[in-house]
Amino acid sequence: MSTQLIRPARSLQGSLTVPGDKSISHRYAMLAGLAEGTTRLANFSTGADPHSSLACMESLGARILRNPDNSIEITGVAGSFRQPAAPLDCGNSGSTMRMLSGLIASHPHTFTLIGDPSLTLRPMDRIRNPLTQMGAKIDLARLEGGQQGHAPITIHGTTLHAIDFTTPIPSAQVKTAVLFAGLQAEGVTSLSESILTRDHTEHALLAFGATLTRTYARVPNQPARLSIPGGQRLHAIDATVPGDISAAAFFLCAALLFPDSNLVLDSLGMNPTRAALLDVIAALGGRIKILTVEERHGELIGTIQVNSAPTAAAATPFLISGDLTAQLIDELPVLAAIAPYTANGLIIRDAQELRVKESDRISLVAKNLHAMGASFTENPDGLEIPGNQTLHGASIDSGSDHRIAMAFAIAALRATGDSEIHGAEAAAISFPEFFTSLEALAQR
Ligand code: S3P
Repeated sequence: MSTQLIRPARSLQGSLTVPGDKSISHRYAMLAGLAEGTTRLANFSTGADPHSSLACMESLGARILRNPDNSIEITGVAGSFRQPAAPLDCGNSGSTMRMLSGLIASHPHTFTLIGDPSLTLRPMDRIRNPLTQMGAKIDLARLEGGQQGHAPITIHGTTLHAIDFTTPIPSAQVKTAVLFAGLQAEGVTSLSESILTRDHTEHALLAFGATLTRTYARVPNQPARLSIPGGQRLHAIDATVPGDISAAAFFLCAALLFPDSNLVLDSLGMNPTRAALLDVIAALGGRIKILTVEERHGELIGTIQVNSAPTAAAATPFLISGDLTAQLIDELPVLAAIAPYTANGLIIRDAQELRVKESDRISLVAKNLHAMGASFTENPDGLEIPGNQTLHGASIDSGSDHRIAMAFAIAALRATGDSEIHGAEAAAISFPEFFTSLEALAQR
């Protein structure tokens, strides 16, 4: 386990290109692996998670060329995965395990999906339920007396049929598993979600040549609805993966902490289902300028500049709840970690899903805020964190969770005294260059 020392900073200055988006890299890797032809992907994520997806696609018969410039070439199996010689190792990646289950369930082989100790504990009934309704045969491991099924997963591939499914929890991974299975099932699969989650799968399917219809509800209580006909074939694409806004989030939050920060982020993914963070940064005192923006394969990609502006202390803290919680799910740890330094503080509600991520993120955020001397209240579904606090440097426990390691490295920049991030190597799951970039931009 590695420890990273973080010294307090005075400001954040410079420009940064963050790694390719983790969510989009997973989807492009999987669809390219299934498609016919050779897909070329520039700016593929450097994080370990999307590389777990790539390695699984290789075991399933795709041919993969990894170039030193982070571009990847994937020659797909033209619709027919092969029987892998060994279990499919999803590493730390819930996205790989859940989305891949939907992608392979109709192929006539037996697949075993395994993961690291964190992934092995994560709930998998959420994908087993809809896939079983489609006719899939899936066995999950269950802890003795436990209700929740988890990895290792065994899938006995068989023909699937279409269903009409409503997602019981807002989850883009579950949505994706159903759409990937529906793409290869008999009939037209429909899916409704009442809280709109990230829509990269929809854009990626269209980019690879699939037919898909979408109805986005703009009235309350009307779910967004997707329909995908089965028996479709995909074709290879040339694409550039936009920069990961969830990786950029750490630096956007860091810029907020210091009045004279100036940060430019280029090639940044700004898909509206991911970009709520920009509004929150603005509400918390960030000044964001969009310098360029263009669309590629349905994804928005652009350059932004962020400075911080003083915010007046108000009577009420900023509230994140409901749809906004779902849209910010991966950014909540860093928002919570910097909340004590904001003028008005932060309330996070409806975030019980955070307890079943790579770690129990509510409890680890609470543990590390406590170590830094913050006052706050921990609730079952979130945190209430007053603003205007001074924190001291501390010994931080990442819990082997990449987002916790990076979130508290940012909080440490404004602390009095040095901090040590234990388990700092976890950052490599999504952002291996994080600490080097932080040192390059932090002014002391
Ligand atoms: C992801 C969806 C979210 C998110 C995860 C990536 C995706 O998970 O937390 O980091 O790529 O679809 P859930 O689907 O479990 O909400």
